[in-house]
Amino acid sequence: MLNKKVVLGISGGIAAYKCAELTRRLKERGCEVKVVMTQSAKHFITPLTMQAVSGEMVSDSLLDPQAEAAMGHIEFAKWADLILVAPATVNIIAKMAAGIADDLLTTLLLATDAEVAIAPAMNQQMYAHPATKTNLATLEQRGVKIWGPGSGEQACGDVGAGRMLEPMELVELVCQEPNEQVLLGKTVTITAGPTREALDPVRYISNHSSGKMGYALAEAALALGAKVNLISGPVTLTAPIKSQLYPVQSAQQMHQQAMALAPQSDVFIGCAAVADYRAADIAEQKMKKQGDELTLTLVKNPDIIADVAALKANRPFTVGFAAETQDVATYAKGKLKNKNLDMICANDVSVQGQGFNSDENALTLFSADSETSLGLTDKRKLALTVMKEIATKLI
Ligand code: C5P
Repeated sequence: MLNKKVVLGISGGIAAYKCAELTRRLKERGCEVKVVMTQSAKHFITPLTMQAVSGEMVSDSLLDPQAEAAMGHIEFAKWADLILVAPATVNIIAKMAAGIADDLLTTLLLATDAEVAIAPAMNQQMYAHPATKTNLATLEQRGVKIWGPGSGEQACGDVGAGRMLEPMELVELVCQEPNEQVLLGKTVTITAGPTREALDPVRYISNHSSGKMGYALAEAALALGAKVNLISGPVTLTAPIKSQLYPVQSAQQMHQQAMALAPQSDVFIGCAAVADYRAADIAEQKMKKQGDELTLTLVKNPDIIADVAALKANRPFTVGFAAETQDVATYAKGKLKNKNLDMICANDVSVQGQGFNSDENALTLFSADSETSLGLTDKRKLALTVMKEIATKLI
């Protein structure tokens, strides 16, 4: 059990309703939680609820003589090991970036030397606004940890990036041990997601890859201190803010980008589900329905990872993935050898609840001289273990 002192700063967004659950789970893990609410947060969850779950008086005013007598705001700021602002609205993010201190929470944030983390939660359009992007970049530069946002359906009905991370994801982040910067000074290039092979201007061949594993690897590599290039096929995920994103569609585009970045990289990870074939010809106009059958001629795509592994100069440590439905170990070891990889991460995609599109995965890592099985777990945790394992293999 870790005994972390957490100030949970709640600002006024609908995701505030999840803060009761967040507080309970943090306490279960041994954290002491004191809650500070902005005035607008109280419209979304009551101080009484937060008092009941935290077991402490909730603070909401800078000018409350009683609260100040119990614990002055500077003392409060010093008490914390971590101030977590969750949900963090665009408004509080902007205030933090500008250094405004016009209520208790924003004042604590300036008065503390504790670790500060925020869990942004807002409409996807507001998240995409350049003002928000600039403010988040400013905070990140100052060392504020930016946890999330996640993507998906929003309370307002929109779909996109801007959801607060789920309480359990935040609990994991609060409780994680500080990572050793074992990849500091290293550049890691990762391919992720599916590719789309156009048939005509409106149709394509693709697959079910969600990109979750590749994006989790990017986050893990960043957490271990690496510089990260993320070459991504079309996915609905938000790239980690500190990664350099290279969006691509087809295997050929992914190949071109990979070959440009691989020689400048220490590690190359092929996590993308690259289409093996593409249409021999892409129709210029939308294909018309004709007859009962359609024959497509497909030609082979370049094998990106094999080409990276075949580099004669500046070859990075090259890691592949093998998604198999049978004889996983045999096929994976075959690919390790045939593609001349340094490591291959094999998973059995025939098992429900792991691999494609799922949040969890189990992997076995094969290299020439080792075999390591990593049991079914959250893709983020798994990604960290994989990246740490890769770090041990770098000279
Ligand atoms: O041959 P297979 O597709 O099963 O191999 C999987 C590994 O090869 C993955 O690391 C994948 O990203 C990579 N790959 C690639 N280019 C291709 C096909 C697969 O980089 N055209």
